[in-house]
Amino acid sequence: MIHKLPTLPLVRAVRLAGAALLLGILAGCSTAPSALEPQGPAAAEIAGLSRLLFVMGGAVYLAVMGFLGVALLRRSRRQGAYDEQERRTGNRILTAGVTLTVVILLVVFGFTVSTQVALSLPAKAGDLTIRVIGRQWWWEVQYPTQQITTANEIHIPVGRPVKIELLSEDVIHSFWVPELHGKLDMIPGETNVFWIEADHAGDYWGLCAEFCGMQHAKMQFLVVAVPPEEYDAWVARQQQPARPPADDLAARGQEVFLGGSCIYCHTISGTDATGRLGPDLTHLASRRTLGAGALPNNRGNLGGWVVDSQHIKPGNLMPATAISGDDLQALLAYLEGLH
Ligand code: CUA
Repeated sequence: MIHKLPTLPLVRAVRLAGAALLLGILAGCSTAPSALEPQGPAAAEIAGLSRLLFVMGGAVYLAVMGFLGVALLRRSRRQGAYDEQERRTGNRILTAGVTLTVVILLVVFGFTVSTQVALSLPAKAGDLTIRVIGRQWWWEVQYPTQQITTANEIHIPVGRPVKIELLSEDVIHSFWVPELHGKLDMIPGETNVFWIEADHAGDYWGLCAEFCGMQHAKMQFLVVAVPPEEYDAWVARQQQPARPPADDLAARGQEVFLGGSCIYCHTISGTDATGRLGPDLTHLASRRTLGAGALPNNRGNLGGWVVDSQHIKPGNLMPATAISGDDLQALLAYLEGLH
């Protein structure tokens, strides 16, 4: 006696839920960086392998479902032992199934190994080394040879592999620029070596891909890939000490900064502020975002961040600042001049 499958409504519900989820993901992430739209050679290798695995996995799934369907339709109703002919057919099918499976797994293994070889550090990447240190919840970015320290933005010349040393100051983070390469963990006490390369000039979002505390989701950064001349100009600007205050208001702001508690956590080169707990602010105004991608860097957001960053990014190390309106305006004038 064959029981009719009682699961049709369930199957339909699961299918509907799946479609809704997929649509939701597509709608919600339309502007998110996608590993399936690679913008550099490493990401292209990974995307190619992903596609191959998806196609092969899909083909295997369809084949299995096809055989299952055939088996269900042609099922014998006869009870009792198989005869010699049936046993031989069964053995042939079994042999073919095992052989095909081994061949498919070997092909997948071969492509995986060759992709891994293609992802190893290119010799040319040693020409430029950038050190990225994960912190709860931002990214310290050092250019050791160029003697630059910045935060939450990595500027690279386009079309050149760049070596990235990954470290962590506290917990395990993971460095991921989906359009440029895969992920690599940043582990306290270890230096992991990675590389990125961008085919075209542009901005590429990076993010932390390992849960690292309550603001893990607000731990982003930008990779800014520019033509070599533009990159050299950026390096030259970043190597300069901080600009002196441009006017009286900014000068008053500098006094507020240096006289307050800001200096215990932040560095502004060329001043007495040499704190290392928070981001280096020497060229703060040149950066696009505040709070590691939490907000666009503009005067209003900067003011809000200074007064109460806990409201924007709860749990970050920066305490709320009790500051008068006049002092805040002066401080903002100073900080906004730090190009
Ligand atoms: Cu850092 Cu998640």
